[in-house]
Amino acid sequence: MNIKEKVDNTVKQIREKTDFVPEIALVLGSGLGELADEIDAVCTIDYAELKGFPVSTVTGHAGRFVFGDLCGKNVVIMQGRVHFYEGYEMNDVVLPVRVMRGLGAKVLFLTNSAGGINTSFSPGDLMLIEDQITSFVSDPLIGPNVDEWGDRFPSMNMVYDRGLRDAISAAAKECDVDLQKGVYIQTTGPSYETPAEIKMFRSLGADAVGMSTTVEATVAVHMGMKVCGISCITNMAGGSETEALSHEEVKEVADRSGAQFKKLVRASVKNMKV
Ligand code: HPA
Repeated sequence: MNIKEKVDNTVKQIREKTDFVPEIALVLGSGLGELADEIDAVCTIDYAELKGFPVSTVTGHAGRFVFGDLCGKNVVIMQGRVHFYEGYEMNDVVLPVRVMRGLGAKVLFLTNSAGGINTSFSPGDLMLIEDQITSFVSDPLIGPNVDEWGDRFPSMNMVYDRGLRDAISAAAKECDVDLQKGVYIQTTGPSYETPAEIKMFRSLGADAVGMSTTVEATVAVHMGMKVCGISCITNMAGGSETEALSHEEVKEVADRSGAQFKKLVRASVKNMKV
């Protein structure tokens, strides 16, 4: 099966279970998946039920689609995603985004846990993603272009849609959430970064680092979706000389920021014009 057939086949499998048409596709990152349990769900589908669909091996990632109403919008939520470092082909890492586009979603709302690079950030902060650096991972559009999806050489001049960013900023004000803003850089992971790498990323203009998101945003832009994203800063990237960084710590801080995060995502979705 080529990638187009694989995406179409997955859409077909989902269509055998639900005819729900989402407006917004929301991807919930590490430790941030709780929101999916709180929506008025009309249907849930475990990734494992879908033949050929990548299933996350990371703890803290549930691994299912939840379809339903969130603040008056039809949404499909990915409760958990797969990452390149798990060993999946890049085409499989971005397959779910293409599938959600195939189901009708016009907006992609990405969330993740990330390490803070900007020294004015603190663990627990939420950051609106304004732009991305994706040059340290493989471009997910390598390979034959599917012309039906988009251009061979898509412009990346505004990956994170201005109108959606404004909607999120306005939501933060309404909810009294301090919202940082910045550039997100994706690495392949799974090892965290060294202090020297963080110094390099800072000099390149990055404010936060994580192991997901930019490749998903790239294929979404390719397919004509509007994209926005929020990072939960769970730790200062690179750790410190005296303390090693751990996935447990990342999940713990994401959990602690959960209430603020959920409030902000809800209010943002409500504000979005799709
Ligand atoms: N680096 C990369 N990915 C991450 C980090 C980090 O420090 N924290 C959470 N995800």
